[in-house]
Amino acid sequence: MRIAIVGGSFDPIHDGHIQMANQSLQGLGVDEVWFMPTSSTPLKDHDLTLDQERLAMIDLVVKKNPKFKVCTLELERAGKSYTYDTLKKLIETYPEHEFYWIIGNDQLMQFDKWHNPNELVKMAHFVCFDRDGKLSDSKYDIACMTMPAVPVSSSEIRMGNKLNYLPEEVLRYIYRNRLYVNDFVASRLTKKRYKHSLSVARLCEEFALNNGYDMHIAYYIGLFHDIAKYMPKDEMLKWMQSVCPENMEYPVAVWHGFVGAAVTKDIFLIENPIIYNAIYHHVLGTSQDPYAMMVFCADKLDPLRGYDSTKLIEICNKDIKEGFDLVVQQNREFLKRG
Ligand SMILES: [Fe+2]
Ligand SMILES: [Fe+2]
Repeated sequence: MRIAIVGGSFDPIHDGHIQMANQSLQGLGVDEVWFMPTSSTPLKDHDLTLDQERLAMIDLVVKKNPKFKVCTLELERAGKSYTYDTLKKLIETYPEHEFYWIIGNDQLMQFDKWHNPNELVKMAHFVCFDRDGKLSDSKYDIACMTMPAVPVSSSEIRMGNKLNYLPEEVLRYIYRNRLYVNDFVASRLTKKRYKHSLSVARLCEEFALNNGYDMHIAYYIGLFHDIAKYMPKDEMLKWMQSVCPENMEYPVAVWHGFVGAAVTKDIFLIENPIIYNAIYHHVLGTSQDPYAMMVFCADKLDPLRGYDSTKLIEICNKDIKEGFDLVVQQNREFLKRG
């Protein structure tokens, strides 16, 4: 069989990788595509997500196409692995197959730095899928094919951008297992506000556990509740005009609740009306939905705020409605004192 190998760290796998795989099937006419996750990339340096998690996300993609497989050769050989060693092993293990090694433009440019580049091109067909449309020349025997650009990278996704380039199952996996989500939030807030968000998320989780609600939903409400807090004013204004122009008369300080709810849905693709509602109302405390009450209380009672909130936290843990009424009352008095 003719096998195309699409290697990478797949942290996480996204539509760009899948496009490469489909292109290999259609453009090169190979019989199968094997995704080969690396355990560490010699030319990159960010800390990789756990092998089993990256693998689980690849599996979700592989399941949908019988011509897709995953090859764990490089993962099994933990530590740095050079393509040269991998290919040698592949050829030894599967002498009956013919291998096509797929690379992208960036790898073509760096091919000089690869281990034994002259040997490599004799061991397999190297094919570069050119995403820029300007086929680069290489002194090595590497075929180039154009591929429609999929403008996304794993590092953008890890920062919470372009999540619409993830297969739905992968996105669900990421949220279920809380991969990257802290960076989604940290990259948009100050350090202090990020710590507050994490602390509120933990407190929401605690309230949910003790009041018999879904901890996972509560956690995400807490984590994202202030996501729009530092959005530039002009951008915030655009969101307000498109999402809730009827709320423009509220003070600007309140807007981040309305916009945060919309951002959580439209940018982070969390489609859950409970989460939307709770974030929307978190500043004013204007919803009596249990999750909205939890985040309103957790926000005000966050231990990082520097006053002793243990009594009220205790009450919220026993009965969120009772705790909410007290926190609303306390908040009113606080605002009155000015
Ligand atoms: Fe807030
Ligand atoms: Fe907050």
